[in-house]
Amino acid sequence: MKLSKHEKVLTGHYPTPLDKMVNLSKKINKGELYIKRDDMTGLGFGGNKSRKLDYIVKEAIDHGYTTLLTYGGPQTNHGRMTAAAAAKFGLKSILMCYGNPPKHASGNIILDRMLGTEICFMDTTEVRQVPAEKQFEAYYKLRDDSTDAIIKRYEEQGEKVYVVPIGGHSVIGTIGYIDAVVEIMNQLKDQAVSADYLVTGFGSTGTFAGLWLGAKYYQVPFEVVGISVAPIDAKKIEDTAKFINQVSQELGLGITCQSKDLWIEGDYYGEGYNIPDAITRKYMLMLAETEGIFLDPCYTGKSFRGFIDIIEKGKIPSGKTSIYLHTGGTPAIWTEEHLKAMEDELWNKDQITIFEYQKV
Ligand SMILES: Cc1ncc(COP(=O)(O)O)c(C=O)c1O
Repeated sequence: MKLSKHEKVLTGHYPTPLDKMVNLSKKINKGELYIKRDDMTGLGFGGNKSRKLDYIVKEAIDHGYTTLLTYGGPQTNHGRMTAAAAAKFGLKSILMCYGNPPKHASGNIILDRMLGTEICFMDTTEVRQVPAEKQFEAYYKLRDDSTDAIIKRYEEQGEKVYVVPIGGHSVIGTIGYIDAVVEIMNQLKDQAVSADYLVTGFGSTGTFAGLWLGAKYYQVPFEVVGISVAPIDAKKIEDTAKFINQVSQELGLGITCQSKDLWIEGDYYGEGYNIPDAITRKYMLMLAETEGIFLDPCYTGKSFRGFIDIIEKGKIPSGKTSIYLHTGGTPAIWTEEHLKAMEDELWNKDQITIFEYQKV
């Protein structure tokens, strides 16, 4: 079978814990709630990109690449994890970001620099002047021209550059989350638990796609639900079904998928991708206060909000056992805009008690 032909390195520590959320289950009181801690994959602060990078890094090393290049926003978790994996396996790394450098370096950017990655910015000022119908094309041109230029520079220095798609979104990267299904099933068996639902964040879609395919391929009893971290439309869901079919075909899994087979929720992205919002922060505090676990304001605060809401609204029927996949991303807490919003809410000086030294 083609699936088992692919080999991987380990950029993380597995299995990640699968824990019952005792206090949160009591609080919500609609069924047993578990958390799968993929924020604890370890390397480079961990997160869901580890499982994708296991396969991607192996392929890069096997084909003699010396440098990993990838894309993302300045706060990309995928970029940080790619840089960490590169460092561990003795590779160089390049991060290509759309836009201009932020005024202050914070969160992932500082971590990227600590990992020794080269950060490049692709100035989109001119692209935004292009008529709307041509903008995608212009973005791709900017990306491709910039990529060609940086690869040329690295190749002149004797390096061979492997281009990792944004979000680690590739067929081999997706195998990481097909594997995760086996890991979860083994843990459920060890804990004598049967789960009905597995809920995950949905961004560049590979995590959801891998879990969905793994769930079908291994015929597990739980349904996989995606919670989008950005606005979605029918086309995005259709594209996800197409991608799932492509992965299935290339790996010889014999599974086919249509949009209507996918459960993806699109109402929990708040104010927009990576924009601070109070409701997401409310859910971040809910998990911190009940279970001592931190979420992030860009991805997991949103997917966790969706997880709780579909349970509270009865979309997941009462009495079922559900697993929330924590996909990491916590360095986003320390980005300027999110930190400021949290400071305004959580650092109310009137609520702080100060004791003074009493002279004897
Ligand atoms: C913390 C975090 N959670 C979830 C996601 C979404 O995963 P995917 O891109 O595989 O859909 C990302 C993607 O960057 C992420 O960084």
